[in-house]
Amino acid sequence: MNDSGSISASSVPRSLRWEDEEGGELYILDQTKLPGEVVEERQDSAEQVWESIRQLKVRGAPAIGIAGAYGLVIGLKPLVDLDLREFLTQAERIAAYLNSSRPTAVNLSWALNRMLAFARSNAEKAGTSAVLYKLLVGEAKLIHAEDRAICRGIGESGEVLLNEGCGVLTHCNAGALATSELGTATAPMYLAFSHGKRFRVYADETRPLLQGARLTSWELKRAGLDVTLICDDMAAYVMSKGLVNLCIVGCDRVAANGDTANKIGTLGVAILAKHFSIPFYVACPSSTFDFATATGADIHIEERSAEEVTSFGARETAPKEIKVMNPAFDVTPHELISGFITEKGIVRPDYRKNLERAFR
Ligand code: MRU
Repeated sequence: MNDSGSISASSVPRSLRWEDEEGGELYILDQTKLPGEVVEERQDSAEQVWESIRQLKVRGAPAIGIAGAYGLVIGLKPLVDLDLREFLTQAERIAAYLNSSRPTAVNLSWALNRMLAFARSNAEKAGTSAVLYKLLVGEAKLIHAEDRAICRGIGESGEVLLNEGCGVLTHCNAGALATSELGTATAPMYLAFSHGKRFRVYADETRPLLQGARLTSWELKRAGLDVTLICDDMAAYVMSKGLVNLCIVGCDRVAANGDTANKIGTLGVAILAKHFSIPFYVACPSSTFDFATATGADIHIEERSAEEVTSFGARETAPKEIKVMNPAFDVTPHELISGFITEKGIVRPDYRKNLERAFR
């Protein structure tokens, strides 16, 4: 916290960083190494950025959108001597390639489409690929800067939900590490905390990759919040003890009817919240609403490798050749969601009508 009592950028970790020297360099905080090692890795090619997104070195819907935008720029950096038409063709190719790294979070395609639309509409004005490259760097930086402001807006919208002394449960990591700065689900927590409210956060560990244990509990503890780590299968117990007054989670894609894809296990939390009459909120930027997807049934759920489930860290925890399912996300039906905390305020049902009115 800074002297004015507000959360400053130094209170939270930085998931990725752009440096302007040498035509621009992208650094990502390698989240696969957290919390043991805090290591940044320079990204030298679109292929490296693709791998970093795929391996979850950079992860979380808004952060992979930002990484995708910078990744496109990194891929175009050696191509500035091409003529403009060829440069644009290469931009389309690299964007499609980066978009194939992870399918569920709509923010990735949203950011890449925005970059491509910007490239097309500014090509003539730029005159050369080298000038267009510089303009594209500016657009990627703008996406990054806008996300910071959006996270703060989500925090301002959601802060009111946190009452003094309450307990809030979150799942996975929709924190600073998943975005540019304050996170989505965590933004109301960071702001409420910086304004003097005291409350307890319960972080689900989030098997199989432990984003709650490795990332959420790390970043909240680092900022001074009261955070308690629980295994995913303890959420019902903690709720039954009356310790949770509110759930806030992030999301990767919201369909037009409000059905919401988020980290596997979110659906279970929402069902439990309903059982215990606990409000269940989803926090997200407007870029996560996908009006082209009618319902949750149309959302492509990423299936990840079996090894993530059959081992715990370096240790094998399942028999060889066991059959495994490993969906990375699930879909929470809109009727289980009390509201969407967005940079434009909290949107409540009827979602089909109210989301369209607010964001389309
Ligand atoms: O597989 P991950 O770690 O990228 O999954 C992340 C989540 O599910 C987050 O809750 C979501 O992306 C929102 S991030 C603000």
